[in-house]
Amino acid sequence: MRFLSYGLDAPKIIGYLFVGGLLCATLSVGIYLQWPPVLLIMKGWFLFDSFKIFYPFYFLIKRDTANFWRRSFLKICQGGFALVMFVGLYQQQIYAYLVAQVLLIGFSVAFLVPALLMIWSSLVGKRLLRDRLLNLMSWQGNEKVLDVGCGRGLMLIGAARKLTSGKAVGVDVWQKGDLSSNSRSAVVANIEKAGLAHKAEVVDGDARSLPFTDSFFDVVLSNFVLHNIPTEVEREQALREVVRVLKPGGTVLINDFQYTDQYAAVLKKLGLKEVRRSRLQWLVFPPARWVIGRK
Ligand SMILES: C[S@@+](CC[C@H](N)C(=O)[O-])C[C@H]1O[C@@H](n2cnc3c(N)ncnc32)[C@H](O)[C@@H]1O
Repeated sequence: MRFLSYGLDAPKIIGYLFVGGLLCATLSVGIYLQWPPVLLIMKGWFLFDSFKIFYPFYFLIKRDTANFWRRSFLKICQGGFALVMFVGLYQQQIYAYLVAQVLLIGFSVAFLVPALLMIWSSLVGKRLLRDRLLNLMSWQGNEKVLDVGCGRGLMLIGAARKLTSGKAVGVDVWQKGDLSSNSRSAVVANIEKAGLAHKAEVVDGDARSLPFTDSFFDVVLSNFVLHNIPTEVEREQALREVVRVLKPGGTVLINDFQYTDQYAAVLKKLGLKEVRRSRLQWLVFPPARWVIGRK
């Protein structure tokens, strides 16, 4: 079987994480070697920006109603930390170099690990999860299948392989930032490479106004797409469209890493039966949940 490339999800975010991780690693080496420009950058960072590392603690006390004293305590810690580190670096104290290095190595790992997990997810994990998702349904082979936001054809091609006389259709706006080399021609090339041109085709269109008639598809799939739609109202509109084009008795399966509680609630509101939302699926990063329902 020929290797099909389905692209890297969120390539810009992966790029930013790599740049951030490598920058922190470089600064850490700079501190170790005591490069003057790096020491200057770190003094500036401790004085003006290091308060941000206390943000998670604010998040922890957010729901506390009587938190004035805790907030004040955190503010004193922030200021004290900034000052102690600035003076420590200024006076070339060992403790300041050590703390700065531990922080930089921590940041570097915190950027690079998600970047590597996202690459693994795009290259391996999402293929494994795709197979698991498609096996949630029993296939007759004659279904009409829609893949909303098909990108370079991950679900579309997987579904087309399950068909005999059926047809799989992918619809997308091919947003560049969502998937590397995302284009209509990339998915068409994948379909041809897979030898599925007689079973799969693609159409330009937005999930919020699908270019299909009512009750046309037996199965509607969507993987890592709807979170890209910015507002709750618009995501609901996309789900209304999904339900509109689905035949009575047809199945919808949506996999995403955000808003799946909203998808399940809207599908129930629109009258779908047997709506289920899965546990977190760790084959992909960020981990995702699927929502399935029948019209
Ligand atoms: C992260 S990619 C996932 C692609 C594919 N489903 C996969 O699993 O490989 C998200 C896809 O959603 C598409 N997309 C984003 N907003 C969309 C919208 N409003 N309508 C249709 N497609 C959309 C993007 O163009 C992109 O191809």
